[in-house]
Amino acid sequence: MTIELAVIGGTGVYALGELDDVETHQPLTPYGAPSGPVRVGWYAGKRVAFLARHGEGHSLPPHRINYRANLAALKALGARRVLALNTVGGITERFAPRVLACPDQLIDYTWGRISTICEEPGSPVLHVDFGDPYTPALRQALLRAAVRAGVSVVDGGCYGATQGPRLETRAEIARLRRDGCDLVGMTGMPEAGLARELELDYACLAIVANWAAGAGPDADEVITLQDVLDNVAAAMAGVPPLLRHLLME
Ligand code: HPA
Repeated sequence: MTIELAVIGGTGVYALGELDDVETHQPLTPYGAPSGPVRVGWYAGKRVAFLARHGEGHSLPPHRINYRANLAALKALGARRVLALNTVGGITERFAPRVLACPDQLIDYTWGRISTICEEPGSPVLHVDFGDPYTPALRQALLRAAVRAGVSVVDGGCYGATQGPRLETRAEIARLRRDGCDLVGMTGMPEAGLARELELDYACLAIVANWAAGAGPDADEVITLQDVLDNVAAAMAGVPPLLRHLLME
């Protein structure tokens, strides 16, 4: 059965509460095993798959996630559209903690991650177009759903993908700002690039958990995990209505 939408949950998002009649799949892919079980069920009358990117117990740091296996598993189960939920830090003023955003650009600062499916001997070399790293039609569908659901989502912004797992220095965030980044997170790449290679529609719903280092009104603020989790939990209140409207379209 086709899956209308696959959702990949990030830090603080380990399940989709409204998923009914859930079946659990543990697909093995040519790239190995995904981060954990894929839960497939009904959401607003449509088939939806959910995968926790870091594993259900948040056991995988960003650089250890098997991004290829995660996306290949969702594709093997019949997904064609992937909505990535990414917890991020906000750099520029529109992206304060608890904001939801749908970025339209990204810059990749990660290193040492397997970032292509063209690794295996004999696999064709793909030079996919990546000028728009997020699928425009899926972004627009998400933004329309947000309007209908009455959930505010910032349209656009540039996601800077950093290596982690540590947070950034103030100087690193100042550099990202100069580069044009509005948001910073650790899991946006290689996921988006791999989705393009795998011909999956892919969009990001970024959940701003904190001001990035030195970026907020209190430049000396220390970022705590509790603040991050509290802000993600508060911002997540907007996600179920948004998903329902996206699926009802
Ligand atoms: N930096 C990188 N990744 C993040 C942050 C941050 O400040 N907050 C949540 N994920």
